[in-house]
Amino acid sequence: MAKERTLSIIKPDATRRNLTGKINARFEDAGLRIVAQKRLWLTRGQAEAFYGVHKERAFFNDLCDFMVSGPVVAQVLEGDNAVAKNREVMGATNPAQADAGTIRKDFAESIEANSVHGSDSAENAAIEIAFFFSEIEIVG
Ligand code: CMP
Repeated sequence: MAKERTLSIIKPDATRRNLTGKINARFEDAGLRIVAQKRLWLTRGQAEAFYGVHKERAFFNDLCDFMVSGPVVAQVLEGDNAVAKNREVMGATNPAQADAGTIRKDFAESIEANSVHGSDSAENAAIEIAFFFSEIEIVG
């Protein structure tokens, strides 16, 4: 299996409820290694740029408002098939549709306040990782 990296964000609903450690344990228990991590409070401009691909969607403004409502933890996860593995561990975007035992099923409050973001492809992972981290900050 190919070793891969993916970008993860622990969202404001989860940092507000002090869930960073519990969520990180889910990643580590699944064999994903946290090879970079920083806690930051996004500006509106940063949130809009990060989610630029969704700017035509009806939920874009609310999503950006939510993402600047508190601190986030941006992280790089590394492991075999990390993109797919992280999506499995996170569960479906809408927690109502997420499988039992996934982060979103267990912790998310709503489709918007869904506790975590994860890259949806290796191509987007590279772009999203570069948005938050320089290569020198990623220690495998
Ligand atoms: P995320 O994986 O961070 O990518 C985009 C986010 O938009 C998504 O998780 C959801 O939190 C949020 N979102 C809000 N409403 C919707 C919706 N109707 N469909 C998809 N994503 C939504």
